[in-house]
Amino acid sequence: MISYTTQVFKNPRAKHNFQGQSCSIAGVGSYVPERILTNAELEKIVETSDEWITTRTGIKARRIAAADEFTSDLATKAALKAMASAGVTAEEIDLIIVATITPDMPFPSTACLVQKKIGAKRAAAFDLEAACSGFIYALEIAQQFIMSRTYKTVLVIGAEKLSSITDWKDRNTCVLFGDGAGAAILQNRPNSHGLLTAVMGADGDKSDLLFMEGGGSRCPATVDSVNARMHYLRMEGKETFKSAVQAMQSAAEEALRRCELNITQIKCVIPHQANRRIIDAVGERLGATPEQLFVNLEKYGNTSAASVAIALDEAVESGRVQRGDLILLVVFGAGLTWGAAVIEW
Ligand code: ACO
Repeated sequence: MISYTTQVFKNPRAKHNFQGQSCSIAGVGSYVPERILTNAELEKIVETSDEWITTRTGIKARRIAAADEFTSDLATKAALKAMASAGVTAEEIDLIIVATITPDMPFPSTACLVQKKIGAKRAAAFDLEAACSGFIYALEIAQQFIMSRTYKTVLVIGAEKLSSITDWKDRNTCVLFGDGAGAAILQNRPNSHGLLTAVMGADGDKSDLLFMEGGGSRCPATVDSVNARMHYLRMEGKETFKSAVQAMQSAAEEALRRCELNITQIKCVIPHQANRRIIDAVGERLGATPEQLFVNLEKYGNTSAASVAIALDEAVESGRVQRGDLILLVVFGAGLTWGAAVIEW
């Protein structure tokens, strides 16, 4: 029997409908915490200004989770919305994948905590760490399980409480990040629309551009590590910016090439919401019009793995995409990692 990957190689769009199989996105959902932290409030915390943040990033506000609200809580709320929109019960879920760099704790996985909270007793569950690229990595893994017919229903979540690893004394980073979660239910629905392809990439040579040193096996938590502020994320902004633009462009082009599509056929481009200037530069290089680009970072800042998941939900909810439209997701994050996906909604 020819595997679907062979078919993909010859004609990638056939993957979508190989032998009647397709990896359908049956429903999406998202959740952001209530607390809004504005640029004006940040001016009181670090030496910055609304003008600097707006012109350099496009961000006006971000959401901050409550002290007793954890990544698994954000993930659960987004998951329940995605399940409702897909018409799927907890018992039907075979697998839960949570993409996050801010798990509730190192172990057990946040996915197991979500499994408990939604009551998906039959589901296998694990976390995936690819920073801001996590949601696309998770989509691709879910697709593999679905197209191989291992599982029928997979819950994919991107969720972050980045405020828990943000150094509120570092103006270079604290203005950029926010909390939130987005989720999708992927199902094997014969002859349906769905995920056409997903591209993933990584470059460990650039792992020092964006990292959190403390808390792992290399630098376990000690009084010294806490005092040295090693349990917060650090970023080399300029280099990250350059790498982001290049990697997002090539990942998006590869995804389009695999599907034999050009950018004019895409209804909505949903880029990782890190920086308005990165989004505009990538859009320009891809030849996308401003109308094609979906941007919501002014409200939420960079929510890492949750970013494109929240944006996808909002694009659907607001009617920016309709059934049958083609969507291009494109992401970039620490690792370095990157990815792109084409969805026929
Ligand atoms: N307010 C005021 N001034 C600031 C602030 C701030 N919040 N932050 C930095 N500055 C200052 C700097 O100190 C510097 O001052 P100096 O010239 O006196 O030294 C000046 O502003 C310029 O700083 P740059 O770092 O050169 O500013 P740049 O234009 O590169 O913008 C930014 C910085 C916004 C971080 C940008 O580089 C960027 O967006 N990088 C990419 C981030 C990203 O995409 N990350 C994605 C992955 S996230 C993940 O995986 C979790």
